[in-house]
Amino acid sequence: MIKAGMFVVAAALIAGGLGTAQAAPPPQVAQCAGCHGANGMGNPVAGFPALAGQPTEYLEQQLYAFKHGTRRNAIMKSFALGLTAADRRAIATYYHDLPAIAPTALPAAPSDATGATLAMNGAGIGTDHAIPACDSCHGAGGLGVAPAFPRLAGEPAAYIAAQLTDWQSGSRSETDVHLMHNIAVMLSPAQIKAVSEYFAALPPTGK
Ligand code: HEC
Ligand code: HEC
Repeated sequence: MIKAGMFVVAAALIAGGLGTAQAAPPPQVAQCAGCHGANGMGNPVAGFPALAGQPTEYLEQQLYAFKHGTRRNAIMKSFALGLTAADRRAIATYYHDLPAIAPTALPAAPSDATGATLAMNGAGIGTDHAIPACDSCHGAGGLGVAPAFPRLAGEPAAYIAAQLTDWQSGSRSETDVHLMHNIAVMLSPAQIKAVSEYFAALPPTGK
């Protein structure tokens, strides 16, 4: 008993001291790696989003939304259907704890300033068509702000654009305040393209 107790204390001290110790990955994540990457950084070519480092609550909420159909995606629904609330929390915590990693290559930044301006300053401010700066919620450099605002930096441009058009069409909807729906419906196709390419070219690590 004494020995076992000491082992637990020692293990806790080691884990606390290293600060990086992680619980064993939830068993489901083996299935996710094929698309979201073993390191959770997604697949820019295929347009699969990175999950690593995203806010726990945000990821948890998305898995709930895929299961219950407020975010409609056939692939993700099949994976989310069998997950319990405890599974969603464990998976979200696991991906949150993975560090965002700088990719070997980022797409080139768009040459015109439309996307950067929209992200940092918004558009039409002072009119009845005011689009708030994306960074006012998603953080400087699009790095995200926990718990509710996901990182956009380094996400595939095609993925970002698809989310914005999904909000326009209603196939993705938030349960309560509809922040993104209200913004997406004001964006033109040219603005969606520009802002998606802008965020895709930003490093997910901020440097
Ligand atoms: C066959 C490929 C594939 C597999 C396997 C897969 N996903 Fe996905 N995942 C996607 C696609 C595609 C999207 C984007 C869906 C959309 O556009 O709404 C996505 C989106 C997500 C999102 C939302 C990310 C965000 O930023 O909003 C989460 C969370 C997620 N997947 C978790 C998982 C988990 C957990 C697993 C394993 C249990 C998994 N995925 C397995 C393809 C996959
Ligand atoms: C008022 C706050 C707010 C502003 C401003 C804002 N967003 Fe968002 N955004 C959110 C919230 C909240 C979510 C998460 C929605 C959810 O839970 O489904 C989100 C999610 C997203 C996502 C989904 C990311 C993912 O991983 O799936 C994209 C893409 C996005 N926003 C793009 C933008 C762009 C582009 C702008 C600027 C034109 C913008 N947002 C401005 C609040 C905001």
